[in-house]
Amino acid sequence: MSKTLSAIRGMNDLLPEQTVVWRHFESVIRNLLDSHGYQEVRMPVVEKTELFKRSIGEVTDIVEKEMYTFEDRNGESLTLRPEGTAGCVRAALQHGLIHNQTQRLWYAGQMYRYERPQKGRYRQFHQVGVEAFGIADASLDAELILMTANLWKKLGLTPFVRLEINSLGDAEERKLYREKLIAYFEASLELLDEDSKRRLHSNPLRILDSKNPEMQVLIEAAPRLMDHLGEETKAHFEKVCKSLDAAGVEYQVNTRLVRGLDYYNRTVFEWVTDHLGAQGTVCGGGRYDGLVEQLGGKPTCGAGFAMGVERLVALLQDLELLTNLDDNPHAYLMRLGEQAEIHGLALANRLRDAVPGLRLLTDCQGGAFKKQFKRADKSGAQVALVVGEDEISSGQVQLKPLRTTQDQQALDETALIQQLKQLIA
Ligand code: HAM
Repeated sequence: MSKTLSAIRGMNDLLPEQTVVWRHFESVIRNLLDSHGYQEVRMPVVEKTELFKRSIGEVTDIVEKEMYTFEDRNGESLTLRPEGTAGCVRAALQHGLIHNQTQRLWYAGQMYRYERPQKGRYRQFHQVGVEAFGIADASLDAELILMTANLWKKLGLTPFVRLEINSLGDAEERKLYREKLIAYFEASLELLDEDSKRRLHSNPLRILDSKNPEMQVLIEAAPRLMDHLGEETKAHFEKVCKSLDAAGVEYQVNTRLVRGLDYYNRTVFEWVTDHLGAQGTVCGGGRYDGLVEQLGGKPTCGAGFAMGVERLVALLQDLELLTNLDDNPHAYLMRLGEQAEIHGLALANRLRDAVPGLRLLTDCQGGAFKKQFKRADKSGAQVALVVGEDEISSGQVQLKPLRTTQDQQALDETALIQQLKQLIA
């Protein structure tokens, strides 16, 4: 026997037991995005490597060590997308969606990062992301955050997640702050770890994000970008905060929140949970007013967020918030004898047409009543529908409840349709 193959480490199969939860999550979020007027886009999973280098930033974990990059047969360097913002901006630019227009877009799909797999951290994972273009006002930042808050409410997650926000200022402000920060860390060079020393001149803000316990005292005392914001940026951030206050959404200002991607300015935010262990960030995003121009477009502001579907699904499951989900068939059709087998499939289709939403499974294996009955029971269906030779000639179907002690009934097709409608209501 030849050896069986298994999936790549960190890349998971989703089996029916999980897809039922995923489909629920996806339908809740789709309705929510529709209700806010956001429109779906779908981008390729593979893009030119340069796109990610130019947008996410050369000195980030993602670009430095996590990208799945390979050469195409024609020698071009391609990368499996590690996130969706870059591709969404590329697509919007390529198709002329953002010049002098506003757009509110969303996408969902697989992303790829070569990270060390553990609970909540995978090499193939799924995001639902939102990107909005052409709106400079802080109301957009607040809308994005409130939209996520609404989603948690719909999913019952509100008590289990908390919001952290910060302002990264604008490019000029960050440049001045950056110099201050470099000078501050240079004065204590011996206290920096290797990673931080390497980043000191290329990406010093990321040092603030370090989890190294030995550097925490130094980081705590570092100058804060929040204290170096200009009037306009400060007012922008205050408006975001006031809009959240007015909507009753609680938040914590975390002046060390810098995010792991370089394109952000002004508002950044993360939703974090304490119920998932180390990988507790379920959603992150912010404003990126320079990115469109950086990727060759006319200056156009943008903002968005993305959430990790695996983490949110795990949270819903761990907290047992989804108890009544099942995608078992409602009814299981058993056919006894050749005439019933031939006419049964057409009957099943008529029933599906007449009862929208009905999940009807037809037994296609045949055999004795007992065997089919066992399979009907195992399918999880509420009722078995039985057609034999007698039923074919009389035009009736036997409806046998499988989960209650109610009696079996012989019904004509019209009465059966009524019963099935009641069953799925
Ligand atoms: P990000 O923070 O890199 O942001 O990822 C967003 C979310 O994706 C994270 O909060 C987390 O829930 C999930 N995630 C990230 N990496 C993994 C992984 N290895 N395994 C499982 N889940 C993961 C972005 O990707 C930005 N593009 C968000 C954005 C959109 N900003 C503006 N627009």
